[in-house]
Amino acid sequence: MLVTSATGKTGRRVAERLSARGHTVRAGARRGPTPFDWEDPETWAAALRGADSAYVAYYPDLAAPGAAEAMATFGRLAVEGGVRRITLLSGRGEPEAAVAEEALRNAAEGVELAVVRAAFFAQNFSEGLLAEGVAAGTLVFPAGDTGEPFIDADDLADVVVETLTDDAHAGRAHDLTGPRAVDFAEVAAEISRASGRPVVYEPVSGEAYAKLLTGFGLPAPEAEWVAALFASLLDGHNASVTDGVQRVLGREPRSFRQYADGVWGGNGA
Ligand SMILES: NC(=O)c1ccc[n+]([C@@H]2O[C@H](COP(=O)([O-])OP(=O)(O)OC[C@H]3O[C@@H](n4cnc5c(N)ncnc54)[C@H](OP(=O)(O)O)[C@@H]3O)[C@@H](O)[C@H]2O)c1
Repeated sequence: MLVTSATGKTGRRVAERLSARGHTVRAGARRGPTPFDWEDPETWAAALRGADSAYVAYYPDLAAPGAAEAMATFGRLAVEGGVRRITLLSGRGEPEAAVAEEALRNAAEGVELAVVRAAFFAQNFSEGLLAEGVAAGTLVFPAGDTGEPFIDADDLADVVVETLTDDAHAGRAHDLTGPRAVDFAEVAAEISRASGRPVVYEPVSGEAYAKLLTGFGLPAPEAEWVAALFASLLDGHNASVTDGVQRVLGREPRSFRQYADGVWGGNGA
């Protein structure tokens, strides 16, 4: 089974779970025994050769410019490589990501495709973009007071493994959220409580956030695109919860509080 982004937040968890179940996992990463670079389709063909299934977590984002074209090429190469089943990670409520999903669906005709559309990952605060700010005590983000039903990457990986190993998911899409929407002030409060260290949420405009990202070295067009993506995701349309985790796993998703306690040790009150 090919697992892309195998060193990332979801790929690492999916690869660990599949290996623990006894599957042979080919970990696709830019460095390592199976070189896999989303910017170099030649590496995709080599990584897909002989793979029975694939977990596709496109980088930087399935809603990014170029993602649909990449999915069309990846789907064609997967068919040529004899892949039987694919699970694609997508973003919930993202129209551009839906276009990329469709591109893969069309190109990978005959392949059993499952799509997992995820809410914002809780792990963004501990392993991703926002981890550094959280560690320094300030969570700067253009989210206003909008709530987001963060999904725990461990739940997401459990769902992905089910879709890769159970025939029931071919042709299906699962929208995944946590159990309730949490706004960013509550995120900061929960992390403060769990860690015993103050973390403060500082809401900023999309424009100010793009400037901040360019200050960190991101090229301006990319920074503007990222800020626009967050603005569109956090306009309230994604605040509702789904029962996707319950339907696939037969259990409740983990809450943001459980995530925070798991990462920061539940040191607070
Ligand atoms: N983050 C969220 O909240 C969220 C929510 C919904 C959906 N998604 C989807 O999740 C995916 C991204 O996940 P993420 O933001 O959590 O990132 P992530 O998976 O943690 O990203 C890092 C991974 O991407 C790999 N990577 C970076 N550049 C690469 C390249 N050029 N070629 C191949 N691999 C590359 C890294 O590998 P190396 O650096 O080791 O090579 C690492 O494994 C996107 O498709 C996005 O649409 C994210």
